[in-house]
Amino acid sequence: MAAVSHRVFSGVQPTGNLHLGNYLGAITRFVALQETHECIYCVVDLHAITTWQEPAELTKNIREVTAAFIASGIDPDKHIVFNQSQVVEHAELAWMFNCVARMGWLNRMTQFKEKAGKHRENASVGLFAYPALMAADILAYRATHVPVGEDQKQHLELTRDIAQKFNVDFAASIASHGYDETFFPLPEPLITGPATRVMSLRDGAKKMSKSDPSDLSRINLTDDADTIAKKIRKAKTDPEPLPSETEGLADRPEADNLVGIFSALNDQTAAQTLSHYGGGQFSEFKADLANLAVEKLSPIAGEMSRLLADPAHIDTILCDGADRARAITSPILRQVRDVIGLIQRS
Ligand code: TYM
Repeated sequence: MAAVSHRVFSGVQPTGNLHLGNYLGAITRFVALQETHECIYCVVDLHAITTWQEPAELTKNIREVTAAFIASGIDPDKHIVFNQSQVVEHAELAWMFNCVARMGWLNRMTQFKEKAGKHRENASVGLFAYPALMAADILAYRATHVPVGEDQKQHLELTRDIAQKFNVDFAASIASHGYDETFFPLPEPLITGPATRVMSLRDGAKKMSKSDPSDLSRINLTDDADTIAKKIRKAKTDPEPLPSETEGLADRPEADNLVGIFSALNDQTAAQTLSHYGGGQFSEFKADLANLAVEKLSPIAGEMSRLLADPAHIDTILCDGADRARAITSPILRQVRDVIGLIQRS
């Protein structure tokens, strides 16, 4: 099979509370890349179950992420949108990568340490092996580019390490089968834009997160206009006026975060935002930010609820996407089985 020179893959977990960080750090990037690349966007439900998910909630959340993708402008006809569990090759390749990745590599993953916390012994084996499944997601398509927020950087480095080790461990077999020596490409993370790490609205030192117990810490994609305005009004700031230059944002994490959010939503640089608001008080800036956020997010929330009113339609989109995804992964997995030395149905 001829290798595609550029292929984008990314995923979002259906764990509820999709927020502005997911939107600005990932989904807006997904939308933009559609113009120039072949894109595959996955609702990573197998990743979600590495921590307990209420089954009915999980089903609802899978549809919600799908609706968020489409409402934000991802085109499921031109590109591929599906849920991970419907393409069995993800789980199969993940197992093979469990046997390539080293315990020491996974032990270094900061996300595992954060999520497992003090209860490491009680964490699921799946949570520990999570990054190998993520590598499988990407490499089952030989994807070359992966748009993500800053927090996924370490997982992408691990994906590259797994690809590299596989290519080296099986080099002789890869050659004897006549496959390209770069059997798996080393995918590049695309961590771009002014909002690769959106912080909590309550604490500029913490990432905006789905699991923060305070709903005031994040703007959810499903929040209504009043809720968005209230959360921005209540967002933590400092007593100084806004600086006129970006250097003035150093050591002011809350101001930096709000300026980053404004800039990303308005598709401009932080310098441009500050050239307008520098020297002014937060109250005026926050009022404009609230209006801007409502203007950008309300249509998405509206479209999401319209789509979610017809779950059968969403399920059809996912099934169709899964069929098209399998058309890519199935021949790649045949090659992987060959290279490893497994016997398979011809
Ligand atoms: P997840 O579901 O936690 O987040 C989805 C995407 O949103 C980005 N993100 C943020 N960006 C900026 N600021 C924030 N506060 C913020 N919070 C989240 C994440 O970086 C991510 O891009 N492991 C992944 C899902 C995944 C995946 C993959 C991604 C599974 N397989 C293969 C890429 C390729 C995750 O947990 O994302």
